[in-house]
Amino acid sequence: MQSGNSSFLPAKVLERLRCPTCGKAVVALPDASGVECGSGHRFAHQDGVLDFSTAGKPQGSTERTFASFGYEWNAFDEVRTEDESFADVYFRDVDFEGLRGKVGLDAGCGKGRYTRFLAEYLEAEVALDGSSAAEAAARNLAEFPGVAVVRSDLRDAPFAPESFDFISSLGVLHHLDDPFAGFERLLTFLAPHGQVLLYLYSRPPTRNLRSIGQSCSAALRTLTTRISHPALKRVSTPVAAFLYWGLVKPGEWGEKHDVAALAGLPMDSYRGSPFRSMILDTFDRLSAPVEHRYIWSELQPWFDRTGLVVDAARDETGWFILAHRP
Ligand SMILES: C[S@@+](CC[C@H](N)C(=O)[O-])C[C@H]1O[C@@H](n2cnc3c(N)ncnc32)[C@H](O)[C@@H]1O
Ligand SMILES: [Zn+2]
Repeated sequence: MQSGNSSFLPAKVLERLRCPTCGKAVVALPDASGVECGSGHRFAHQDGVLDFSTAGKPQGSTERTFASFGYEWNAFDEVRTEDESFADVYFRDVDFEGLRGKVGLDAGCGKGRYTRFLAEYLEAEVALDGSSAAEAAARNLAEFPGVAVVRSDLRDAPFAPESFDFISSLGVLHHLDDPFAGFERLLTFLAPHGQVLLYLYSRPPTRNLRSIGQSCSAALRTLTTRISHPALKRVSTPVAAFLYWGLVKPGEWGEKHDVAALAGLPMDSYRGSPFRSMILDTFDRLSAPVEHRYIWSELQPWFDRTGLVVDAARDETGWFILAHRP
């Protein structure tokens, strides 16, 4: 990625920034301590994060959601080798070469583990997160000069309309109280002909082993979303061990030795992944206060109602959807 930086922010990002308080354009302060709008509203830049979270108070469940993910991505903050094989699944439908020269937004970037794959192609990219996960993202994305890390709620993102050619939001909207409203809001930042890539939780349309697993996890969540994050981190290891050695490993063995009863076990997407990825995902599933799960007939109207054209939609233990604005 080329940087085009004259300061701590890529020029292509700076020109798109708008003050969340008054809507005016901003300039970068010469000492790199932040940005200031034409009305004098200032937003700090510290430890690689440009922080707009001071502009408003989180609404509804948002404060708890940010506390949960802020803890998660700072507790599990390292870039991991297995992220590469997960990225193959996340970005399978994306034309990476087509991203060259474009400006992207990764809305709800967490620790930035997937932002980095797009950063290699995009001319400039904003890694945005509403929680203190932005701090972990700043550490992990420091090697990409074309990436700006911004802390803000995606629904109040400090950007001019139609700022981005490519918006990714991976595993984020299903954690909002009103996911479709969040989607509509994100689309205000999408340029004409721009593309959007989503990952959203799915649920099986009929009852099967996976839906039974989801019901068990929903029951557990009534408890686990109420305990402290460090306590939940401790609990996640034995729960993950039960799933990994009870389902993933037997399934892996069944697949290798053609034993259909074992090969058909759920959690097949973890086969070949290390145990630590199961611990992280167990914490993730049990901690986030809000989650929605979808079947396609509930998601298709999102695209019909917003006039987007769906280029690809596949459910691989979650919906991966690529769409564009005509
Ligand atoms: C499951 S994590 C996914 C992170 C990253 N996309 C990944 O796949 O590794 C969801 C992220 O979305 C962020 N998030 C949730 N609601 C948000 C909102 N309203 N505005 C900005 N970020 C939000 C959380 O803080 C969290 O880091
Ligand atoms: Zn202002």
